[in-house]
Parts: sequence; C-alpha cells; structure tokens
Amino acid sequence: MTDHPNIVVLTGAGISAESGIATFRGPGGLWEGHRVEDVCTPEALARDPGLVHRFYDLRRAALAAVEPNPAHCALARLDAEWPGELLIVTQNVDDLHERAGATRMLHMHGELQSALCAACGAARPWAGELPPGTRCPDCGAPAMRPDIVFFGEMPYQMERIERALAMCDLFVSIGTSGAVYPAAGFVQTARHWGAATLEINLEPSQGSFLFEESRMGRASELVPVWVEAVLASQRRTSPRT
Ligand code: OAD
Repeated sequence: MTDHPNIVVLTGAGISAESGIATFRGPGGLWEGHRVEDVCTPEALARDPGLVHRFYDLRRAALAAVEPNPAHCALARLDAEWPGELLIVTQNVDDLHERAGATRMLHMHGELQSALCAACGAARPWAGELPPGTRCPDCGAPAMRPDIVFFGEMPYQMERIERALAMCDLFVSIGTSGAVYPAAGFVQTARHWGAATLEINLEPSQGSFLFEESRMGRASELVPVWVEAVLASQRRTSPRT
C-alpha cells in the first residue's frame, strides 16, 4: 500500500434513504404496484412509455424536496481532503453526492437530471417533465428518454470503474443490497486485486460474506465516523512539514 491508499466507494439507494428517497427493495419499494424491475427495462419503455416516463418524471420532481444527509456530506469531505486517489461510484440517479460537494464521482446507472436520445445517443441536462415523443435538441428525432441504465443495458463508465478497482487499496460499499450486477460483483474484483473491503449497510447485504469487515447501521451515522477515522489515520502517517 502507498502512503496515500487508493479508495473506491460504491454507494446505493441506502445512502439517500435518510434524505427521504425510498430505496428500491425495502418497504415502499413498490411504485403504484410495480416492481422496479418491471418499470426499468427497455421492454417496459417500448410497451408503455407513458408509465416509464411518469415514473422518472415523479422521481425527478421529488429531487426538489430532498437534501444531502450527513453521509453524502462526509463523502464530500473525504473527496475534498483525501490526498490519494478516490472514486465514488454511485448507483443512484439522484444528485445528492454532487449537491454535497463531491466531484471525484460518477453515476454508473445514469442520472434523473439528464435525458438521452434513443436515436442519436446524445445526452442533455434535463429539468422538468420529459413526455414520450419529446424531440431531441440535437437530431430532432422524437426519441428523448430518461438517461437511466435499464435492466439489460450496460452501465456507464465500466472501463474507468474496473481500472479504479484494480488500483484500489480499499473498497467500501455503502447502502446497497448487492442485488444488482455488475455493481454487486465489485467487491470480488477489488479483493482479487488485493484491496481491503468494508461494507456499511443497515442490514447484511446479499454479498455481505464477501467483505472483510461489515458495519451495520444508518449511513448518516456510520459514514461520518468512518471518514473521520480514515482522515485521522492519514494525518498520523503523513510526514510533518
Ligand atoms: P436497494 O433498495 O436494493 O438496497 C438499498 C440497501 O440500503 C438495502 O440493503 C438497505 O438495507 C440499505 N439501507 C436502507 N436504509 C439505509 C440507511 N439509512 N443506511 C444504510 N443503509 C441503508 O438499492 P440499491 O442496492 O442501490 O438500478 O439498488 C441497486 C439498483 O437497483 C439501483 O441502482 C437501481 C435498482 O434497480 C437502476 O435503476 C438501474
């Protein structure tokens, strides 16, 4: 391990739960009786675009009423103060990491505040509703859809994520059930390359046994404690100037 260990953090819906955004698989995880797996697919979009667009319109609109919680803020602090490499990979499509101030991050499952043209592939920042048939500002096709990675589609920036996992000394998973691949497999990739692994979650995730250490509890309480400890250990090992 170097003086400044490389860290990869994976976050999921659990980190935003205390901001008031419902998780996918917990209580309230159904939307008008639909499972997320039934709404977030290319087939559902083709069969009932009104339903799928409405699902994401409501989620986009709900962002106005939520704020980052102490877990997002702690990761933003880590981003600002950590001298080593850091990559925060979020499965979340909300913008709470950015609003807390994180910059070394990416959205592997897309973003609510972005729209994607199914015809030309251009992505555009998007606010407000996105009705089916909306024309692409770039190519003019009536093909704008939510910029969300549906089940069966390839998550974004996988090469960058794989590179970061191969280089990391510590992999930390926060607030994710470990039910959806490829994110659920990142712990094994990180371990394969020799990283230490830590899970922070309300309850043991499906892949809990794969982590060297698991801390169970609320992200808003456990993440600030973990960040403080990581930054403190760095202060102890840094040469005095
Ligand atoms: P899930 O809803 O599957 O899991 C959320 C996890 O967070 C659960 O294990 C909860 O126990 C935990 N949790 C809840 N509240 C918490 C809290 N306050 N502190 C810590 N942990 C808490 O959400 P994800 O794992 O993110 O994909 O789901 C993965 C993907 O499935 C999503 O990105 C989404 C969905 O289909 C797409 O939309 C493409």
